[in-house]
Formats: sequence, structure tokens, C-alpha cells
Amino acid sequence: MNLDKQLIDKFVNVTSGAAASCYKHIGKGNKTIADKAATDSMRESLNKLDINGKVVIGEGELDEAPMLYIGEKLGTGNGPSIDIAVDPLEGTNFAANNLPGALSVMAIASKGNLFNAPETYMEKIAVGKDVPFDATDLDFPIEKNIKNIADSKNKNISEITVCLLDRSRHKKIIEKLKILNVKLKLITDGDISGALLVTNEKYKVDIFVGTGGGPEGVLTASALDAFGCKFQGRFIFKTDDDISRAKLMGIKDLGKKYELKEIIKGDSIFCATGITSGDLVRGVKIANGKFITETLITHKQSSINIVKKEVPIT
Ligand code: FBP
Repeated sequence: MNLDKQLIDKFVNVTSGAAASCYKHIGKGNKTIADKAATDSMRESLNKLDINGKVVIGEGELDEAPMLYIGEKLGTGNGPSIDIAVDPLEGTNFAANNLPGALSVMAIASKGNLFNAPETYMEKIAVGKDVPFDATDLDFPIEKNIKNIADSKNKNISEITVCLLDRSRHKKIIEKLKILNVKLKLITDGDISGALLVTNEKYKVDIFVGTGGGPEGVLTASALDAFGCKFQGRFIFKTDDDISRAKLMGIKDLGKKYELKEIIKGDSIFCATGITSGDLVRGVKIANGKFITETLITHKQSSINIVKKEVPIT
């Protein structure tokens, strides 16, 4: 079932409002307060909408998140039944330290069409639609993925740019990439943005790899689906607690590699509003007594674009 296009504007207002709520906390060094401001705003706005919504990716489970917890019902109840994935403030360090790339992010799909991901890490790979589907795989050695991308783009390996989170867990892969002599784009945070850089040549990123948040992986997949890009993800469960939570969520095969189509099905809407300016969208600014926000929108069935919004200062 397709999602009504009128929902797009409503959801852009939700992420725009959440981004605007963060504005006064940018650069104040407190990521918890900034996150709470965005979460409160997002929840309040979603609850005013005529939707029958359920959080499938949220701020955590009920015992750890009082708001936008997994399973929370949102909206007036009069409207379409939808699953909602939220990350009210993606890049909490970016917002707290006034660095580029903080976003307010949300994705929706019809009930049952958005993967219910546990709060754990996920190994990820994302490539643009210009690379043949079979050329890359989470199970291939990194050398093979890079060579296949270079061949398909008719580039030298040294011209291939690989984006990944700068983390000690990526030491081995970074060493291999250095030996290959590719261009590295090491990001300090924000792997939704990082992965979305494969969507357009202008960002000069050929592949995104590495391990980041699982919930972020689901949000990423929903946007990449609309762009026709490839995404694969595999959860990493470290503790017994992780494993029992995953089992409770219905995950039987803990080592399964998920294809994009298993993470997001059917129509979807994705909105990412800039809090601080980054590669994808500009951050919140004030003009003529109003907040001005910029949102990257994808709607699987129709347009993909960026909109500017005015949000009243309250
Ligand atoms: P927060 O906005 O919750 O701080 O997440 C930022 C982020 O960089 C994500 O984009 C990424 O998926 C995750 O953290 C990586 O986790 P870790 O910092 O533990 O490596």
C-alpha cells in the first residue's frame, strides 16, 4: 500500500520542529539535553497527527527510554496504520559541540513493513545504484568489493573513496584500505549521513562500510531504498542480554545478513532535517524571527528532494 503524499509535509514538520528545538542547545556541550529537546518535540508533534503510529525504532525500550520507546503508540489513532523509526538527534556529539552533521531523522512505512531492529551494533555496506548489485557483498573480502567497484566505474583503485566511522574496531579494515591505497573518508560520528553519501556522485563516496548502530542501519536502508542504492546489514550481538532481547524481538538467526528489501518493504517516507550544517543539508538558522530548516526527503513512490521550512519560534 502506498503512503499518502500528504503525509510527507506533515513528517517534514515533525523533524523540522525537532531540529528547531535543538537550536538553543547547539554547542552547549550537553548532548543529553539536546537529545531530550529533540525527542520531546518529535513526540509532541507526532501525537498531534491523525495517524495510528507505532515506534519500531526509537530511543530504546520502555525500561530505558520514557519517550519514543519501541512499541509506543503515536498519533490520534484516526488515520493510516504506520510503523515509525525515529532518531530525533542523530549525531549527539555534533550538536553538543557545534560540529557539522547533526540531523533529526525519521522514517515511516505501512504497518509491518519496517524492520524491528534491536539496540545493538550492525555491520553495514552501502553502494550507489551505479554499481551492479552483485559486485559487492558484506561477505566479500574488502579487497574484492573495492576492486569490483573500481572495475564497474572504470576507475583506478586509488581513486575509490571509502567512508567509514573512525573507530578502533575498524583498525584492521582501515589497515587493508591503506594498503589498497584508496581514499579514506573517516567520519567521527553520524553513519546515517556517511552511508547516504553513496547516493550521489557529487559527494565523491563510492562505498560506505563498517559497524555502527543497528537502528541507524534501518533508517539508512529506508532512504537508500528510495535512491535505488544497495544496502546490507548484519547485527552483532555481544552480550547474553543482547541475544535474549533479539530473540524476544523475533530474530532467530543471529548471524543473518539482511538485504535492504528485508529491512524496508513497500512504500516509505524518510526525512532528515539539518541541525548543524553537513554534507547533506544545512543546519537550522534564524531569519525574520523564524527558524529556517532544510530537510532531505525521500518518498519511495515519488519525489526525492530537499525542502526548506519556516518554523515559528515559540
Ligand atoms: P548518537 O547520535 O546516538 O550519539 O549516535 C552517533 C553515532 O555515530 C551513529 O551515527 C552511529 O551509528 C553510532 O553512533 C556508532 O556508535 P559508536 O559511537 O558506539 O561507535
